[in-house]
Amino acid sequence: MRKPIVAANWKLNKGPSETEDFIKNFITKLPDLPKGCEIVLAAPYVSLVKASELLAQSTVRVSAQNMSEHENGAYTGEISALMLKEIFVNYVILGHSERRAIYGESDETINAKILKAHGTELKPIFCIGETLEEREGGNLEKVLSQQITLGLKDVTEKEMLETVIAYEPVWAIGTGVVATPTQAQDTHEFVRSVLTDLYGIAVAEKIRIQYGGSVKPENAAELLGQKDIDGALVGGASLEPASFADIIRNGVVE
Ligand code: PGA
Repeated sequence: MRKPIVAANWKLNKGPSETEDFIKNFITKLPDLPKGCEIVLAAPYVSLVKASELLAQSTVRVSAQNMSEHENGAYTGEISALMLKEIFVNYVILGHSERRAIYGESDETINAKILKAHGTELKPIFCIGETLEEREGGNLEKVLSQQITLGLKDVTEKEMLETVIAYEPVWAIGTGVVATPTQAQDTHEFVRSVLTDLYGIAVAEKIRIQYGGSVKPENAAELLGQKDIDGALVGGASLEPASFADIIRNGVVE
């Protein structure tokens, strides 16, 4: 009943011309891909206009990888939700572990961004995940509960239905070490139980939770076949149109 959602997170890769090359190739593959899957491309800011233009006639959605929690003003180097909206961006990745770890984004900042996104009708892909140290120290549930509870503070039920969660264990991102399907399913089930505590079972059952961290064509079927895994957020393996398409083809059952 939850529509699968597979998103490419290009990170610091692909300016406008590489974006154009990717999309022109990827569009030719769309007719052969499962129809019941929402596909999203998260490009760098400078490539978003190009992506929006090229995808305007398709069902593929465009996402930013971050945005400011502020509307306008003296915030050098920042981009607002309204600016993204103006260029027909649909989604925005917020709280990615690289933003948390490298740029020091706190749960409170991420929460402010999530609220701003909803206020502007951009759909957040809200990332959460634990480090290996946190998992091995027995703090997995505590860390995830805190990220979820603080990140979603004041987010309404209605807004929650427009929010995608991406569970990305930090130790699996870009490392080639993927969570086992059982590890991922158990954690997704836990995430849904926290959402149930916050929003009730009816809402929690509708929220899509993506898995992210070394997803590849070879492991997509097993991971996305799990009951509480509703799609994937894909970094490295989304940079080539063929491998991104294979993830969708292998992972999504019609
Ligand atoms: P990866 O990245 O697929 O390269 O592990 C996933 C992500 O960071 O979103």
